[in-house]
Amino acid sequence: PYPSRVKLVDVGPRDGLQNEKQTVPAAVKIELVHRLQAAGLREIEVTSFVSPKWVPQMGDNAEVMAGIERQPGVRYSVLTPNLRGFESALASRPDEIVVFGAASEAFSQRNINCSIAESIERFAPVVEAARAAGIYVRGAMSCTVGCPYEGEIAPERVAYLAGLMKGIGVQHVGVADTIGVGTPLKVQRALEATLAHFALDDVSGHFHDTYGQALANTLASLEMGVWQYDTSVAGLGGCPYAKGATGNVATEDVVYMLHGMGIDTGIDLDALIDAGQYISDFLGRPTQSRVAKALLAK
Ligand code: HMG
Ligand code: MG
Repeated sequence: PYPSRVKLVDVGPRDGLQNEKQTVPAAVKIELVHRLQAAGLREIEVTSFVSPKWVPQMGDNAEVMAGIERQPGVRYSVLTPNLRGFESALASRPDEIVVFGAASEAFSQRNINCSIAESIERFAPVVEAARAAGIYVRGAMSCTVGCPYEGEIAPERVAYLAGLMKGIGVQHVGVADTIGVGTPLKVQRALEATLAHFALDDVSGHFHDTYGQALANTLASLEMGVWQYDTSVAGLGGCPYAKGATGNVATEDVVYMLHGMGIDTGIDLDALIDAGQYISDFLGRPTQSRVAKALLAK
């Protein structure tokens, strides 16, 4: 019943570092991307073209994208909330762009300063321009299970957002548990709601691990056949507009689980742990990956 192969998108350089208080030089971000691709990651979410007043840590977006030595077969994605961001991103030649909306009105307002309906109006020309330029378009859907401002989110609201994303030409959507409150059956309901509008091959899971549920939620998604996940090396991160939210599930932990289940990822766990150690050492914090901690202690 489980997929035989899983694709992981490491979002550490973007989702992981966007919330970091200390300055992370572009050179460190570039080195992290290099180590991730050397470990076998085939898609990396590198940065976002958002307002530097809102998210100062991503202000070096163009510099980071320009500094990466691209490896054939690796895709580099960036977040673009509006046309302004998309136009700035173009010079960086991303393989994929991400528009990001929310199933919750309050989160949409806090995160991107507009309603859900307005966000779709902003995304539509971005999607059109990206597709005309041959750039793949992913949509991130925040708060598909719970919202820091509105509490529990019904699957109908996820279906509504997924339908809007589909309607403007978004090619793939990520079902995000932004604040990590989801539990397996609730996450499955959010995925089912999404699958009403998108094919299984065009849906991924994006689970933050705040409540320690992300691996269980990943397993529940695998049971439905979902084979693409966003994960973050060393469990880096959190969203600046979701107070207290921690990072995505650690890539190392997901790789360990998948390999243990006989599911192929193409990732070298030892090299991945090295990448996680590199950024954790720079940040002066222990890794959030349980697997990395366990293996490093051996
Ligand atoms: P706004 O203030 O509504 O936009 O912000 P505006 O069009 O009125 O512009 C205001 C100012 O921002 C202007 O500058 C614009 O030029 C500038 P000023 O005249 O004041 O000097 N501006 C920009 N600058 C650079 N790049 C841009 C851009 N757009 C406008 N693209 C906006 C709207 C979306 C830009 C703002 O709210 C923003 O940047 N928000 C940040 C959102 C963000 O990055 N959140 C974190 C990522 S999402 C996430 O983490 C969730 C995810 O992981 C899934 C999950 O876990 O849920 C994906
Ligand atoms: Mg996220």
